[in-house]
Amino acid sequence: MVAPLKVGVAGLGTVGAALVALVARQRAELAARCGRPIEIVAVCARSKAKNRGVDLKKFSWFSDPVKLARDPGIDVFVELIGGAGDPAKSAVEAALAAGKSVVTANKALLARHGTSLAARAEKHRVALNFEASVCGAIPIVKTLRQGLAGNSFSRIYGILNGTCNYILTRMEQEQLAFAACLKDAQRLGYAEANPAFDIEGHDTAQKLAILASLAFGTRVDQSAVYVEGISSIAPADLTAADELGYRVKLLGVAEKTATGIEQRVHPTMVRKDSAIARVMGVTNAVTLDTPGIDPITLVGPGAGGMATASAVVSDLADIARGLRSPPFGRPAAALAAGKKAPMQRHAGGYYIRLNALDRPGTFASIARHLAKEKISLESIVQHRRGERPHGGDDPKSPAAPAPVILITYATTEDGVRRALKAIQKTGLIAGKPQLIRIEKN
Ligand code: HSE
Repeated sequence: MVAPLKVGVAGLGTVGAALVALVARQRAELAARCGRPIEIVAVCARSKAKNRGVDLKKFSWFSDPVKLARDPGIDVFVELIGGAGDPAKSAVEAALAAGKSVVTANKALLARHGTSLAARAEKHRVALNFEASVCGAIPIVKTLRQGLAGNSFSRIYGILNGTCNYILTRMEQEQLAFAACLKDAQRLGYAEANPAFDIEGHDTAQKLAILASLAFGTRVDQSAVYVEGISSIAPADLTAADELGYRVKLLGVAEKTATGIEQRVHPTMVRKDSAIARVMGVTNAVTLDTPGIDPITLVGPGAGGMATASAVVSDLADIARGLRSPPFGRPAAALAAGKKAPMQRHAGGYYIRLNALDRPGTFASIARHLAKEKISLESIVQHRRGERPHGGDDPKSPAAPAPVILITYATTEDGVRRALKAIQKTGLIAGKPQLIRIEKN
């Protein structure tokens, strides 16, 4: 029998515990598929006493992840600690320097230091695998790195955060307010410890930065991602979207444009009949646009112990089989700097919701400012006062604003922003205009 692949696991949270259970459950299958057993031999966490629902007695115990990373008794170091800094970073670096392959679920670490860690892995001729860092059980990293190694990509976009999709789904289906849905997401354990990380789009941005590097052969650059979260989305937007044939999703989009590569995270209107619009609840999905073939959409669970552990095990299986690819699909030195497309130059359709004062001339003024920026309207919906109540005003009062929904044809971000600023200055609308980008799909 070929010697087992000996694995050390740092971090025994939900994913770590699920990994221990999964490796035990799939022991025979993995040995058969990989030609050698995969054995967890050592673990590391802060508290030894904590009950994690799995038997840890047979593993060596470490309290310092860097020590585990250097331990001669392991072949592979699995990093499930999280965070872009230490101890995760120093432990991963220590493992690579000691000539051990690394498997990590750490999107923050990769989004910040992915290129330099890839270079270290290549220098030491070991693997750096991170399938679990993006979209849990969906094999999107391997799809981009291996499965579609012969394709080029014009755009990739997806629902990369289950918490936001859960919130938007509940808001739409039950006409609930954002805050109530967020509370439920937290209660059910979907949201990160700091919910702002999910709802303000940063979790999606980190995952998008990793996918963009794999798709476009550029250095991972989280700072190039434009980020807007979902906290400003109101039930009124979801209702209006529905009436117009759209659904609102928080998307991460990476796209090749004439001005460079756009990487953007924001609430997005997608056509209700598109594959991505049908993805509801905590489920994740990624669509890949590759010239010459129809778009490919991968859908599945993006978070949770077993879903994430399944991705970790697939990475371990590759190592057990002796497979090693450059982490980002090409040698780190060959990853290009990537020209960042400025968000002001983004071109596309827009949804605009204004609370317009119901007076003669209001609409003419709005139309004039849009025309000045050469913005052409595809549809206009104005509800009667009182049909869609707003704020604390008496909706029947003549002074109360009436919601106006505008859908524009393709225009530019800076043009729309200029027009809305001018419209706000007229004093003919109440509050801030709502702006949601429309994604062609
Ligand atoms: N908070 C993340 C989500 C977990 O909601 O998708 C997985 O990264």
